[in-house]
Amino acid sequence: MSLYQLFKGKGPSGFGYGSTAEEVTEGLSLEGRTILVTGCNSGLGLEAMRVLALRGARVLGTARTLEKAQAACAAVGRQAVPFACELSDPSSVRACVEAVRRGGVRLDAIICNAGIMALPKLEQVHGIELQFFTNHIGHFMLVTGLLDRLADDGRVVMLSSGAHTMAPREGIRFDDLAGARGYTPWGHYGQSKLANLLFAKELARRLAGTRRTANAVHPGVIRTNLGRHMPGFADLLFGLAGPLFLKSVSQGAATEVYVAAHPAVAGTSGAYFADCNVAKARADADDPALARRLWEVSEAIVAGLPGR
Ligand SMILES: NC(=O)c1ccc[n+]([C@@H]2O[C@H](COP(=O)([O-])OP(=O)(O)OC[C@H]3O[C@@H](n4cnc5c(N)ncnc54)[C@H](OP(=O)(O)O)[C@@H]3O)[C@@H](O)[C@H]2O)c1
Repeated sequence: MSLYQLFKGKGPSGFGYGSTAEEVTEGLSLEGRTILVTGCNSGLGLEAMRVLALRGARVLGTARTLEKAQAACAAVGRQAVPFACELSDPSSVRACVEAVRRGGVRLDAIICNAGIMALPKLEQVHGIELQFFTNHIGHFMLVTGLLDRLADDGRVVMLSSGAHTMAPREGIRFDDLAGARGYTPWGHYGQSKLANLLFAKELARRLAGTRRTANAVHPGVIRTNLGRHMPGFADLLFGLAGPLFLKSVSQGAATEVYVAAHPAVAGTSGAYFADCNVAKARADADDPALARRLWEVSEAIVAGLPGR
């Protein structure tokens, strides 16, 4: 428990900053449900998978390699099924989509949890800045590839971040998705997280009139492997500040698990959650034209990728 937690109450959902993934699923049976979690081998994804399986769900856990997914799933038990999905490699994402489809499952939720943060130097894949490709395009391919396998009341949960506010002023730099003009680690992480949020909003719009939902979440600030690119002093600071200000991993996993599984939010779509409650995002996250344009540009990028 962090010091900060003592000053943060619970919200209208009855949960809040200090709630853990186990607490938000207490008393729920997820028997018979199948939930896919990306980035299942580390941090929030690993905890989300563990708790969803604890409540009876079958969890399809994806990681960059089958070996990583297998090791993570083995630790959780027989309800966790491993898949390889390297989000920066379109052939790997397509193979994952095919493998899940071959299994013939109906997905009750897809939690797009995997991510990378604040790469110190510009890296690109297929001409696109790597954080945008990994965090957004890879998940865009995965979700759109599995959309017809989503249950009638299925849920898509996108891991965004409070750092979406660090995206450029214009939102998404459509004229420079390669990041060649003025790359900044946080600006481009922010752009990828704004993209996660806009994708959830546009998907929710496209699912309107059905019982399927799409939402985005900010998990809080948690010390995980996500900080691997942070400079040593920042990591040290994080280590020292942790007990005072940061969430634990089980608190960090609570919001994604809550939005993916709790009956109270079955009818909520197109929302942004933080601390297991609906929260306010940056104003342009609610711009339908921006969200639609991102979808169309993402489709065009995917259509131009090799190996289709
Ligand atoms: N921790 C925080 O404070 C915080 C705050 C706001 C938002 N978030 C978001 O929460 C999510 C989970 O983060 P975390 O803190 O749990 O970080 P983490 O411990 O680093 O876990 C991230 C997961 O994503 C996977 N991943 C990274 N690149 C990938 C790729 N190219 N293809 C497939 N999988 C990939 C990682 O695999 P490897 O282990 O193989 O690299 C790992 O399983 C992220 O989307 C992050 O942006 C976290």
